[in-house]
Amino acid sequence: MLRARKLTKRYRQGEATITALDGFSYDFPPGATAVVGPSGSGKTTLLNLLAGFDRPSAGSVELAGVRIDELDEDDRAGVRLQHAGFVFQSWNLLPTLSALENVAFPLLLAGVPRGERERRALGLLERVGLAGRANHRPNQLSGGEQQRVAIARALALEPAVLFADEPTGNLDSAAGRMVLDLLLEHAVGERRLVLVTHDLQVASRAERILHLRDGRLIDVEEKG
Ligand SMILES: Nc1ncnc2c1ncn2[C@@H]1O[C@H](COP(=O)(O)OP(=O)(O)O)[C@@H](O)[C@H]1O
Ligand SMILES: [Mg+2]
Repeated sequence: MLRARKLTKRYRQGEATITALDGFSYDFPPGATAVVGPSGSGKTTLLNLLAGFDRPSAGSVELAGVRIDELDEDDRAGVRLQHAGFVFQSWNLLPTLSALENVAFPLLLAGVPRGERERRALGLLERVGLAGRANHRPNQLSGGEQQRVAIARALALEPAVLFADEPTGNLDSAAGRMVLDLLLEHAVGERRLVLVTHDLQVASRAERILHLRDGRLIDVEEKG
């Protein structure tokens, strides 16, 4: 489950206060939900609060049955590892590790033994079509390939919620489509995908679209 109530985030800028998110409430159903809005409308702020990277100024977030807004950073990190996966615009792979080691990294954090780690990481790379690149380092892969490694890594612990912030923003349309297909493929059954994008064509692939403006949820568009 993923639920936000009156979620608000204010940033201090010297004397001024910026309200980046203003009273956002939504109960995310299973499946894929896109979040769209102009630059500066609060999309990344929302994602960071929902995923527990940051704490709200007011309001609550419930992720997998836990009120993460009430937890300190260590406990939030634990909930994230167990229940959430992330894909960002720039792929954030560890540059000195191979594709396989990058994918295996969350499994290492979760205490999965080495042999099983490698077996599962290879299976995940297979799923994103990159088993043949297992020993390549990130700088030996194209942008689209790096993003697919990042998706394999995000899926390693079978997260209930997958968060993606402009995941196709740096990719050409063919690579972007492949990445989007993989993200949507995950959002079946009880699983959720929260997909932040400024690209309406990308958003239209989700089952519903939330429109943000000036930090406010102004419209929820359900697809038929
Ligand atoms: N760490 C921060 N400190 C101060 N202001 C911030 C910070 N992060 C975001 N903001 C401001 O909050 C608003 C929303 O930003 P953001 O969530 O990044 O929007 P989006 O992802 O939709 O482009 C913007 O006005 C931005 O300048
Ligand atoms: Mg953003």
